[in-house]
Amino acid sequence: MTREIFIAPSILAADFARLGEEIAAIDKAGADWIHCDVMDGHFVPNISYGADVIKAIRPLTKKVFDVHLMIAPADPYLEAFAKAGADVITVHAEAGVHLDRSLQAVRALGKQAGVSLCPATPEHAIEYVLDRIDLVLVMTVNPGFGGQSFLESQLAKIGRIRTMIGNRPIRLEVDGGITRDNAAAVAAAGADTLVAGSAVFRGNSSADYAGNIAAIRIAAEAGRVPKLQDSSTQPMRAGESVRLR
Ligand code: DX5
Ligand code: ZN
Repeated sequence: MTREIFIAPSILAADFARLGEEIAAIDKAGADWIHCDVMDGHFVPNISYGADVIKAIRPLTKKVFDVHLMIAPADPYLEAFAKAGADVITVHAEAGVHLDRSLQAVRALGKQAGVSLCPATPEHAIEYVLDRIDLVLVMTVNPGFGGQSFLESQLAKIGRIRTMIGNRPIRLEVDGGITRDNAAAVAAAGADTLVAGSAVFRGNSSADYAGNIAAIRIAAEAGRVPKLQDSSTQPMRAGESVRLR
């Protein structure tokens, strides 16, 4: 089942001194989801913000809050993020011993459950929780900071996870170093939800952000278009466009 491409700007790259304005700007600029990176300085070597900030920005937009918990342990804080207004709560497979229990707890709070894998973590880590999740988040950088370079090594993992998902209603999200230049490759590999921080928050107006989001979306959708067969086997009629499946 091919799910619509979603673009989820990461507000880690926003101007924190104007966070409310920035949320309104990316909402207006066409963000499908708002990606909220929560970092504890323990699981990752950086500290960002907690549930109170999510609560403060919740009234500013109706868009889905895609909350990425880079914290360990995560379980003690799930309820606070659910109450603060998270719609999707993603925990790291590496953040604790009892991933199955954490995912059940997220769903018990009435939220969509996501699991994220660091670059070195193989896809087998999610093999026994596929029926507990609504989203898999493949890190295409080592988590902790925006503005890093995309790790090509993760393309093969994205493809293998796409196969593991099969027909399940699970979104495949990628996160880290995503730009208009690699969006086609990640979409072709099987990603349908693209997080982008620095590639979206370039410029400082909603119009700039809209252009950045559109460029990533167009590139991702182009990456999904089936490669044309050799024309000798499949003559194209004049004017026929290649349809997305
Ligand atoms: C990194 C975060 C990412 C990051 C994306 O740990 O999970 O969401 O903010 O930022 P860019 O797109 O600039 O790599
Ligand atoms: Zn993230």
